[in-house]
Amino acid sequence: MLAVVGFALLVSWIIASIHRNHSSSLKDIPNAHFSAPYTRLWLLSLRWRNMEHRSRIHLHRRLGPVIRIGPRDVSVNCIDDGVRTIYSSKFDKDASFYHELFDQTGFMVTMTGNEEHRERKRMLTRPYSNSYILNSQILDSVLSRVACRLREEIAGWASKGTSVDVYQQAKCCTLDVASGWLFGSENATDTLRDPGFENDLTTLASAASKIFCVRTSLDWPMTYFASWIGNKLPDPEITGRWQAWLTRVITDSYRRHSTKSSSILSLYDHFYDSFKAANPDMSRNEMASFIAVECDDHLSASHLGLGTLLSYTMYELSRDPDCQRALRKELLTLAEPSDRSLVHRLADLPVLDAVVTETMRTRAPCPGPFPRVVPDSGCRLAGKFDVPGGTIVSSSAWALHFNPVPFPSPEEWRPGRWLEADENTVAEMRKWIWTFGSGARVCIGTHYSMRVIKELLATVYTNYQTSLDDEFTGNVEQQDAFSAGPLAGCLKLRFRRPIARPLLKQP
Ligand code: HEM
Repeated sequence: MLAVVGFALLVSWIIASIHRNHSSSLKDIPNAHFSAPYTRLWLLSLRWRNMEHRSRIHLHRRLGPVIRIGPRDVSVNCIDDGVRTIYSSKFDKDASFYHELFDQTGFMVTMTGNEEHRERKRMLTRPYSNSYILNSQILDSVLSRVACRLREEIAGWASKGTSVDVYQQAKCCTLDVASGWLFGSENATDTLRDPGFENDLTTLASAASKIFCVRTSLDWPMTYFASWIGNKLPDPEITGRWQAWLTRVITDSYRRHSTKSSSILSLYDHFYDSFKAANPDMSRNEMASFIAVECDDHLSASHLGLGTLLSYTMYELSRDPDCQRALRKELLTLAEPSDRSLVHRLADLPVLDAVVTETMRTRAPCPGPFPRVVPDSGCRLAGKFDVPGGTIVSSSAWALHFNPVPFPSPEEWRPGRWLEADENTVAEMRKWIWTFGSGARVCIGTHYSMRVIKELLATVYTNYQTSLDDEFTGNVEQQDAFSAGPLAGCLKLRFRRPIARPLLKQP
């Protein structure tokens, strides 16, 4: 009897789905999979098996710039009439995805309401603007401290010929810089010398990444199951250490706040002032917890996102000795006298910029997807598909970056493509770079990230050379996940001095 009822239900579901699809205005969009118009199971299984982004690359090459990946889900892989439209301020973030993604909400990335987001963005924009970042004294001082530590470490690795996990060392550098930038030099971590805290954060991040995967790939009727697995605390001891550190630095930053001069304000100080101005009656503890959640996000974006980008840039340079030589030659020009500050000169070096941009293209550390909801008025994609309100549209940075039209031989890491092409071609290629997202919700850490990565690369490559460690056999490909570090969990390289000559003064 039960089997008959089950069968009848299945048949009626199939008939209803076919009918729904027949009358859906998405029916003209090519299907990524035969089941896509009827169920999200295929999409969720790709996500579960960590195959979503690599699949999107190939599906878009085969089926075009707009494809249907679920009954109400569309993947978009073109800029005009595509990314530019769906990442505008009219398209809200898909709340269910972002709220499944993170344990805590209330920080900028998770905000879905336009009003709330606009206010938070206003509070944070100034210290992350390009001119502020390039002229920030606090960033000068934390970067020069980290560069100094890094030089000491590299001197030791080079003299002993050590095999170095640059993924871990890059994360140490970017964590030490971010902690100083957020909470002042006096509260900066020193994980290049004492990596214990970095190990803690990496362990927490990898547990969080498993939780993301569970929550974003189990759909109804598994939501209860997802929250049951997803809410398990990673490791109470490590979580406790991390929370204790965050509480200590926030309390210390609060204590020092009123005595600081305007030239050495940390992000905490800026954030405190603008938060207080907007919420004069909020209690100190409540405000501290808002600030903590926001700073926690910035710290982890810098630690993991920027750490991944920096280590892959070094890895790619190690595979390409000619490019490494060209970069060193360019960096040596910084020793020549100039009226401009070193930071501004570094920002304008073409080879350095090409090396970073090409790694942002081939190794985007956070490929997405960043789903948005089509507003009630609907939209038109790729000039021919009318998409109704309520549809979930999204793009993948990897699919955009591996499109062979703007980027011939897209799998090749070739910084020369940015140096040899004419102005129009470069402008066209830049349009497709989506490492930091775009539009209303573009990453606010872009200028900060560019300054930090360029200075750290200059620290390494002005005086040292890196090469692959031939004994390292780990899988260097990226995890196909929201946070895309190397599958092996490490990237091993060796360091040495290129020629015997005195060390040059560093930026
Ligand atoms: C290489 C490193 C980084 C990458 C690849 C990256 C990537 C991204 C992307 C793709 C988005 C858009 C997300 C969306 O549309 O949902 C984003 C947003 C954001 N990022 Fe980053 N990010 C990086 C570093 C940072 C850093 C260092 C910070 C802070 C210091 C930061 C803070 C933020 C914030 C606050 C948002 C939300 C912006 C908004 O909703 O208006 N990111 N990031």
